[in-house]
Amino acid sequence: MTILVVGASGATGRLLVEQLLNRGQKVKAVVRSPEKLPELIKNHKNLSVIQASVLDLSDDEMAQHVKGCNAVASCLGHNMTLKGIFGHPRRLVTDATSQLCNAIKANKSNNSVKFVLMNTIANSNRDIQEHNSIGHRLVISILRLILPPHVDNEKAADYLRTKIGQNDDKIGWTAVRPSSLIDESEVTEYDAYSSPLGSAIFDSGKISRIDTGHFMADLITDEDIWNKWKGQMPVIYNKDTSE
Ligand SMILES: NC(=O)c1ccc[n+]([C@@H]2O[C@H](COP(=O)([O-])OP(=O)(O)OC[C@H]3O[C@@H](n4cnc5c(N)ncnc54)[C@H](OP(=O)(O)O)[C@@H]3O)[C@@H](O)[C@H]2O)c1
Repeated sequence: MTILVVGASGATGRLLVEQLLNRGQKVKAVVRSPEKLPELIKNHKNLSVIQASVLDLSDDEMAQHVKGCNAVASCLGHNMTLKGIFGHPRRLVTDATSQLCNAIKANKSNNSVKFVLMNTIANSNRDIQEHNSIGHRLVISILRLILPPHVDNEKAADYLRTKIGQNDDKIGWTAVRPSSLIDESEVTEYDAYSSPLGSAIFDSGKISRIDTGHFMADLITDEDIWNKWKGQMPVIYNKDTSE
């Protein structure tokens, strides 16, 4: 398979790329700063690096990059700086998601392409009934007002849910909702659920970035896991949290 990864230089993106390369897949990584990629993967024979800021690519350029890819994965997120959180582009994740989906469609391939989005447990799946307390809804309303990246994450998943939907013949999608991200050096046991086990705000649980990359790679390379979660927004927790 060939997989295009955006946000590949990020803390999770680079782990996803490594997982895919370890599985023998070919990866195209769109990164602003190739030097940020770890040595281990930077010179890997199955990695090709496209140096660009994702939203600066024209529709034609994006369609060329996506051509021949079996899957596209986004680990994009706003940098945790004042400029990253409050500056432009405010809709980084949403705009990249729609740009990539348009590129997939423009190629008119006969095969459906998988789109795996890194999202957040703080977002609800409004395709299903997820019960949230009044306190939770209040905090989310405040986050929407004061934290542009939260709105961006919500809108990116909304794009997949409502604009691509469940029956698109060119694109199948999954929006992965990690709980609070931590860093670990090895993949550990983790579980995926269709909705949060507890409050996504007050008791969000934990998942490592390497487990998140592992799960996203599983969705791309394992048809059973893909068929289980296609069109859904799985929440992932490490085993210790979910037990
Ligand atoms: N923190 C949590 O507990 C948590 C929990 C669940 C979900 N999440 C979500 O997961 C996302 C990814 O997490 P992470 O820790 O892996 O993120 P990260 O390390 O900050 O990586 C973000 C990626 O997005 C890229 N990026 C940022 N701004 C960009 C721009 N304007 N144009 C193009 N690319 C840009 C970065 O590129 P550069 O390397 O060039 O900057 C990097 O590749 C978070 O942003 C968040 O939305 C977070």
